[in-house]
Amino acid sequence: MKNILVTGGCGFIGSNFIRYLLSESDFNGRVINVDRLTYAGNPENLAGIDTNKDRYVFVKADICDRIAMSEVFDSFQIDTICHFAAESHVDRSIAEPDAFINTNINGTFNLLELARQDMHRLELFHHVSTDEVYGSLGRDGYFTETTAYDPSSPYSASKAASDHLAMAYSRTYGMPITLSNCSNNYGPYHFPEKLIPLMILNALEEKPLPVYGNGQNVRDWLFVRDHCRAVWLIMQKGRRGETYNVGGRCEMTNLSVVELICDIMDEIVPTAAGSRRNLITFVKDRPGHDLRYAIDCGKIEKELGWLPEESFETGIRKTIHWYLEHRDWVTRIKTGAYLEWIESHYQM
Ligand code: NAD
Ligand code: DAU
Repeated sequence: MKNILVTGGCGFIGSNFIRYLLSESDFNGRVINVDRLTYAGNPENLAGIDTNKDRYVFVKADICDRIAMSEVFDSFQIDTICHFAAESHVDRSIAEPDAFINTNINGTFNLLELARQDMHRLELFHHVSTDEVYGSLGRDGYFTETTAYDPSSPYSASKAASDHLAMAYSRTYGMPITLSNCSNNYGPYHFPEKLIPLMILNALEEKPLPVYGNGQNVRDWLFVRDHCRAVWLIMQKGRRGETYNVGGRCEMTNLSVVELICDIMDEIVPTAAGSRRNLITFVKDRPGHDLRYAIDCGKIEKELGWLPEESFETGIRKTIHWYLEHRDWVTRIKTGAYLEWIESHYQM
């Protein structure tokens, strides 16, 4: 792997992955980061990385733009693709699904076609996906790699379509493709529309903490660096044509996540107003809200020896500290100043 195209590298997981690749892994080739810089893409997420041109190149482009992406494949002699770029927020997909269909389905199709045209050079196409493609569990059981797809939201349906395309290209054209379906990530650079950063920042400002429905929906949380380690391991050692589930074996109700954040915040930044748990406000439920996600990650554990290094207790403390120490990053996101910076630098 000499020239890895990372799509969506200015987003939450993509930026953590590039940081991991360039400074913690054994990879010594070049990362070509292609990102359209939507509201969720922030070049500041990569501040301080090694920008030597032999190690890292950024191209502002839309993965749906076949011509622009073809130029990227040719100019940089792409031999490996790690595909993160997506519209990722379920609530946005319910309000405005169009961008999800375009980017998640058509964009993935585009990349697969370009990779197919360059089959002679292709070492691997790794497609990053979600446990949400499996739909909802009841109180018992786990998602395995053979669980039938049953997506509930436009987001998860679009990711399911992209997964099917990736696997179809593997079977039909014999392309070297791997797929990972991961549970909920959290950690640094998480955009504050998602549950954990939203709760940390609202708790800091002593604003209401909106919990959907009765707060009993369950998610399986994984620290983002552990996801990045899993993706890199699959890329290096995963069997081609295979899917790997990735999860933290860390099921929690949304309410217990929010309560824990309140308690840690009370400990680190006490408030005269008393317990932040009093800020918890139950609000209207998300339509089609999946009750429970839980991943059986036995396959990646047994085949590749992967295990998470972070527990939720240690990971959430690191995450809270990161948000407290990066107030400028937060302010620029909240005021939209990062978008103005992107506009002035990239002529949108
Ligand atoms: P994110 O929304 O933080 O980042 C997405 C990135 O993709 C942004 O930088 C955005 O600018 C870019 N992008 C969007 N549309 C684009 C386009 N048309 N062309 C080029 N770039 C585009 O998302 P994330 O949370 O980092 O998720 C990354 C991937 O991981 C997604 O595929 C998502 O489905 C998957 N995933 C996320 C989680 C999670 O908990 N966040 C869990 C499992 C899987
Ligand atoms: O499971 C993996 C998925 O995790 C990824 O594929 C998605 O890209 C990622 O966004 C995430 O999806 P969720 O919908 O689970 O994440 P979110 O942070 O939006 O919500 C987590 C849970 O918290 C969910 O049950 C809804 C609830 N919630 C969310 C918000 C934003 C609230 O109760 N209140 C909130 O304000």
